Amino acid sequence: MKIGIIGGTGDIGEGLAHRLSQNHQIIIGSRDKDKACESSECMVQCLSERGCSAHCCGATNQEAVDIADIIVISVNYRHLESTISSLTGFENKIVITPVNPIGKSDHFYYNPPAEGSAALAIKKMLPESAKIVAAFNNISAQKWKNLDETLDYSVAVCGDDKDAKKIVMGLVEEVSELTAFDAGPLETSSIIESITPLILNIAKFNNMKDVGIKFY
Ligand SMILES: NC(=O)c1ccc[n+]([C@@H]2O[C@H](COP(=O)([O-])OP(=O)(O)OC[C@H]3O[C@@H](n4cnc5c(N)ncnc54)[C@H](OP(=O)(O)O)[C@@H]3O)[C@@H](O)[C@H]2O)c1
Repeated sequence: MKIGIIGGTGDIGEGLAHRLSQNHQIIIGSRDKDKACESSECMVQCLSERGCSAHCCGATNQEAVDIADIIVISVNYRHLESTISSLTGFENKIVITPVNPIGKSDHFYYNPPAEGSAALAIKKMLPESAKIVAAFNNISAQKWKNLDETLDYSVAVCGDDKDAKKIVMGLVEEVSELTAFDAGPLETSSIIESITPLILNIAKFNNMKDVGIKFY
Protein backbone atom coordinates (compact mmCIF):
# COMPACT_ATOMS: atom_id res chain seq x y z
CA MET A 1 0.00 0.00 0.00
CA LYS A 2 1.01 3.62 -0.40
CA ILE A 3 1.02 5.35 2.96
CA GLY A 4 1.44 9.13 3.10
CA ILE A 5 2.45 10.71 6.39
CA ILE A 6 1.52 14.36 6.87
CA GLY A 7 4.14 15.84 9.21
CA GLY A 8 6.17 12.70 8.53
CA THR A 9 9.46 14.40 9.48
CA GLY A 10 8.37 14.45 13.13
CA ASP A 11 8.91 11.92 15.86
CA ILE A 12 5.99 9.57 15.38
CA GLY A 13 5.98 10.03 11.59
CA GLU A 14 9.60 8.92 11.33
CA GLY A 15 8.95 6.11 13.78
CA LEU A 16 6.03 4.76 11.77
CA ALA A 17 8.06 5.11 8.56
CA HIS A 18 10.92 3.08 10.06
CA ARG A 19 8.62 0.15 10.78
CA LEU A 20 6.18 0.31 7.85
CA SER A 21 8.56 1.10 4.97
CA GLN A 22 9.78 -2.47 4.72
CA ASN A 23 6.38 -3.69 3.46
CA HIS A 24 4.80 -0.53 2.09
CA GLN A 25 5.64 2.53 0.01
CA ILE A 26 5.94 5.40 2.48
CA ILE A 27 5.62 9.01 1.38
CA ILE A 28 7.02 11.27 4.08
CA GLY A 29 5.17 14.57 3.82
CA SER A 30 6.32 17.93 5.07
CA ARG A 31 5.69 21.63 4.58
CA ASP A 32 9.25 21.59 3.22
CA LYS A 33 9.94 18.96 0.57
CA ASP A 34 13.75 19.13 1.04
CA LYS A 35 13.30 18.35 4.74
CA ALA A 36 11.08 15.38 3.85
CA CYS A 37 13.63 14.05 1.31
CA GLU A 38 16.40 14.37 3.90
CA SER A 39 14.32 12.49 6.47
CA SER A 40 13.55 9.77 3.91
CA GLU A 41 17.22 9.40 2.84
CA CYS A 42 18.32 9.19 6.44
CA MET A 43 15.84 6.43 7.16
CA VAL A 44 16.67 4.45 4.01
CA GLN A 45 20.36 4.67 5.00
CA CYS A 46 19.64 3.57 8.58
CA LEU A 47 17.63 0.57 7.37
CA SER A 48 20.14 -0.42 4.70
CA GLU A 49 22.90 -0.48 7.35
CA ARG A 50 20.78 -3.15 9.04
CA GLY A 51 20.44 -5.06 5.77
CA CYS A 52 16.81 -4.05 5.33
CA SER A 53 15.32 -2.38 2.30
CA ALA A 54 13.01 0.59 2.74
CA HIS A 55 10.51 1.94 0.25
CA CYS A 56 10.32 5.59 1.08
CA CYS A 57 10.42 9.04 -0.51
CA GLY A 58 10.02 12.64 0.58
CA ALA A 59 7.22 14.90 -0.64
CA THR A 60 5.15 17.89 0.27
CA ASN A 61 2.17 17.17 2.53
CA GLN A 62 -0.11 17.73 -0.48
CA GLU A 63 1.84 15.26 -2.63
CA ALA A 64 1.64 12.72 0.20
CA VAL A 65 -2.15 13.05 0.22
CA ASP A 66 -2.35 12.87 -3.58
CA ILE A 67 -0.16 9.76 -3.95
CA ALA A 68 -1.25 7.71 -0.94
CA ASP A 69 -4.14 5.28 -0.39
CA ILE A 70 -3.77 5.69 3.37
CA ILE A 71 -2.88 9.00 5.01
CA VAL A 72 -1.54 9.38 8.54
CA ILE A 73 -2.02 12.80 10.12
CA SER A 74 1.05 13.17 12.26
CA VAL A 75 1.05 16.74 13.51
CA ASN A 76 0.47 18.20 16.94
CA TYR A 77 -3.20 18.90 17.76
CA ARG A 78 -2.65 22.66 17.69
CA HIS A 79 -1.49 22.49 14.04
CA LEU A 80 -4.33 20.26 12.85
CA GLU A 81 -6.73 22.87 11.56
CA SER A 82 -4.16 24.95 9.66
CA THR A 83 -2.59 21.80 8.21
CA ILE A 84 -5.80 20.13 7.08
CA SER A 85 -7.31 23.34 5.70
CA SER A 86 -4.23 23.79 3.50
CA LEU A 87 -4.70 20.37 1.88
CA THR A 88 -7.21 18.80 -0.52
CA GLY A 89 -7.97 15.35 -1.92
CA PHE A 90 -8.95 13.31 1.15
CA GLU A 91 -12.11 12.02 -0.54
CA ASN A 92 -12.58 8.24 -0.11
CA LYS A 93 -9.16 7.80 1.50
CA ILE A 94 -8.37 6.09 4.77
CA VAL A 95 -7.09 8.70 7.22
CA ILE A 96 -5.32 7.44 10.34
CA THR A 97 -5.05 9.74 13.34
CA PRO A 98 -2.59 9.08 16.17
CA VAL A 99 -3.23 12.65 17.38
CA ASN A 100 -3.63 13.12 21.13
CA PRO A 101 -4.79 16.52 22.42
CA ILE A 102 -2.82 16.74 25.65
CA GLY A 103 -2.14 19.55 28.10
CA LYS A 104 0.61 19.73 30.65
CA SER A 105 0.91 21.36 34.09
CA ASP A 106 2.72 19.44 36.82
CA HIS A 107 1.10 16.44 35.14
CA PHE A 108 -0.30 15.53 31.72
CA TYR A 109 -4.05 15.79 31.11
CA TYR A 110 -6.44 15.07 28.28
CA ASN A 111 -7.55 18.30 26.66
CA PRO A 112 -10.09 17.42 23.96
CA PRO A 113 -11.78 19.91 21.63
CA ALA A 114 -15.53 20.61 21.70
CA GLU A 115 -16.13 17.75 19.24
CA GLY A 116 -15.06 15.30 21.97
CA SER A 117 -11.73 14.09 20.56
CA ALA A 118 -9.08 14.97 18.00
CA ALA A 119 -10.38 12.17 15.75
CA LEU A 120 -13.92 13.58 15.83
CA ALA A 121 -12.56 17.07 15.13
CA ILE A 122 -10.64 15.66 12.13
CA LYS A 123 -13.83 13.99 10.89
CA LYS A 124 -15.53 17.37 10.92
CA MET A 125 -12.66 18.99 8.98
CA LEU A 126 -12.49 16.35 6.23
CA PRO A 127 -14.92 15.43 3.44
CA GLU A 128 -17.65 12.99 4.48
CA SER A 129 -16.22 10.21 2.31
CA ALA A 130 -12.87 10.19 4.15
CA LYS A 131 -12.64 7.13 6.39
CA ILE A 132 -11.18 8.22 9.70
CA VAL A 133 -9.51 5.61 11.89
CA ALA A 134 -7.80 6.34 15.22
CA ALA A 135 -4.74 4.16 15.81
CA PHE A 136 -1.12 4.31 16.96
CA ASN A 137 -2.03 6.79 19.73
CA ASN A 138 -0.39 5.09 22.69
CA ILE A 139 3.12 3.93 21.72
CA SER A 140 6.01 6.35 22.00
CA ALA A 141 7.90 7.40 18.90
CA GLN A 142 11.20 6.31 20.45
CA LYS A 143 9.93 2.73 20.58
CA TRP A 144 8.90 2.89 16.93
CA LYS A 145 12.29 4.25 15.88
CA ASN A 146 14.42 1.83 17.84
CA LEU A 147 14.39 -1.16 15.55
CA ASP A 148 16.21 -3.29 18.15
CA GLU A 149 13.13 -3.00 20.31
CA THR A 150 10.34 -5.59 20.08
CA LEU A 151 7.01 -3.79 20.13
CA ASP A 152 5.01 -6.15 22.30
CA TYR A 153 1.98 -3.92 22.88
CA SER A 154 -1.71 -3.64 22.16
CA VAL A 155 -3.00 -1.06 19.71
CA ALA A 156 -6.60 0.07 20.14
CA VAL A 157 -8.18 0.95 16.80
CA CYS A 158 -11.52 2.68 16.31
CA GLY A 159 -13.49 3.97 13.34
CA ASP A 160 -16.89 3.95 11.68
CA ASP A 161 -15.91 2.29 8.38
CA LYS A 162 -15.52 -1.44 9.08
CA ASP A 163 -13.38 -2.15 6.00
CA ALA A 164 -11.04 0.77 6.70
CA LYS A 165 -10.68 -0.33 10.31
CA LYS A 166 -9.86 -3.88 9.19
CA ILE A 167 -7.15 -2.60 6.82
CA VAL A 168 -5.58 -0.49 9.58
CA MET A 169 -5.72 -3.40 12.03
CA GLY A 170 -3.91 -5.49 9.42
CA LEU A 171 -1.20 -2.81 9.17
CA VAL A 172 -0.79 -2.83 12.95
CA GLU A 173 -0.37 -6.60 13.06
CA GLU A 174 2.44 -6.51 10.49
CA VAL A 175 4.64 -4.60 12.92
CA SER A 176 6.83 -6.51 15.36
CA GLU A 177 4.65 -8.14 18.06
CA LEU A 178 1.88 -5.54 18.00
CA THR A 179 -1.68 -6.79 18.44
CA ALA A 180 -4.60 -4.76 17.14
CA PHE A 181 -7.89 -4.58 19.06
CA ASP A 182 -11.14 -3.25 17.62
CA ALA A 183 -12.18 -0.57 20.13
CA GLY A 184 -15.48 0.30 18.43
CA PRO A 185 -16.76 3.30 16.45
CA LEU A 186 -14.96 6.64 16.10
CA GLU A 187 -17.10 7.93 18.98
CA THR A 188 -14.79 5.93 21.31
CA SER A 189 -11.66 7.75 20.11
CA SER A 190 -11.60 10.02 23.19
CA ILE A 191 -11.05 6.94 25.33
CA ILE A 192 -8.06 5.85 23.23
CA GLU A 193 -6.56 9.35 23.08
CA SER A 194 -6.93 9.82 26.84
CA ILE A 195 -4.86 6.70 27.54
CA THR A 196 -1.79 8.63 26.41
CA PRO A 197 -1.75 11.25 29.22
CA LEU A 198 -2.41 8.37 31.64
CA ILE A 199 0.70 6.47 30.52
CA LEU A 200 2.77 9.67 30.37
CA ASN A 201 1.84 10.36 34.01
CA ILE A 202 2.62 6.80 35.01
CA ALA A 203 6.03 7.14 33.35
CA LYS A 204 6.67 10.52 34.98
CA PHE A 205 5.60 9.66 38.53
CA ASN A 206 7.15 6.20 38.60
CA ASN A 207 10.45 7.03 36.91
CA MET A 208 9.63 4.83 33.98
CA LYS A 209 10.36 5.35 30.31
CA ASP A 210 8.03 4.91 27.33
CA VAL A 211 5.23 3.07 29.14
CA GLY A 212 2.92 1.05 26.87
CA ILE A 213 -0.33 -0.91 27.17
CA LYS A 214 -1.20 -4.53 26.66
CA PHE A 215 -4.65 -6.13 26.80
CA TYR A 216 -5.06 -9.81 27.68
N1 LIG B 1 5.77 11.57 19.68
C1 LIG B 1 5.13 10.50 20.15
O1 LIG B 1 5.72 9.66 20.88
C2 LIG B 1 3.69 10.26 19.79
C3 LIG B 1 3.10 9.00 20.07
C4 LIG B 1 1.78 8.78 19.71
C5 LIG B 1 1.02 9.79 19.12
N2 LIG B 1 1.61 11.02 18.88
C6 LIG B 1 0.80 12.08 18.24
O2 LIG B 1 1.31 12.24 16.92
C7 LIG B 1 1.25 13.61 16.53
C8 LIG B 1 2.63 14.06 16.07
O3 LIG B 1 3.51 13.96 17.18
P1 LIG B 1 5.08 14.19 17.01
O4 LIG B 1 5.68 14.02 18.35
O5 LIG B 1 5.59 13.40 15.87
O6 LIG B 1 5.10 15.74 16.62
P2 LIG B 1 6.34 16.68 16.22
O7 LIG B 1 7.55 15.85 16.03
O8 LIG B 1 6.40 17.78 17.21
O9 LIG B 1 5.85 17.33 14.85
C9 LIG B 1 5.45 16.59 13.72
C10 LIG B 1 5.59 17.44 12.49
O10 LIG B 1 4.63 18.50 12.49
C11 LIG B 1 5.08 19.50 11.57
N3 LIG B 1 4.85 20.83 12.10
C12 LIG B 1 5.53 21.48 13.07
N4 LIG B 1 5.03 22.72 13.27
C13 LIG B 1 3.99 22.83 12.40
C14 LIG B 1 3.08 23.89 12.10
N5 LIG B 1 3.14 25.08 12.73
N6 LIG B 1 2.16 23.66 11.14
C15 LIG B 1 2.10 22.47 10.49
N7 LIG B 1 2.95 21.45 10.71
C16 LIG B 1 3.88 21.62 11.68
C17 LIG B 1 6.58 19.28 11.37
O11 LIG B 1 6.76 18.82 10.02
P3 LIG B 1 7.38 19.78 8.87
O12 LIG B 1 8.18 20.86 9.53
O13 LIG B 1 8.25 18.83 8.11
O14 LIG B 1 6.21 20.26 8.11
C18 LIG B 1 6.91 18.18 12.36
O15 LIG B 1 7.94 17.34 11.92
C19 LIG B 1 0.77 14.40 17.75
O16 LIG B 1 -0.57 14.77 17.56
C20 LIG B 1 0.93 13.43 18.93
O17 LIG B 1 -0.10 13.60 19.88
C21 LIG B 1 2.92 11.26 19.19
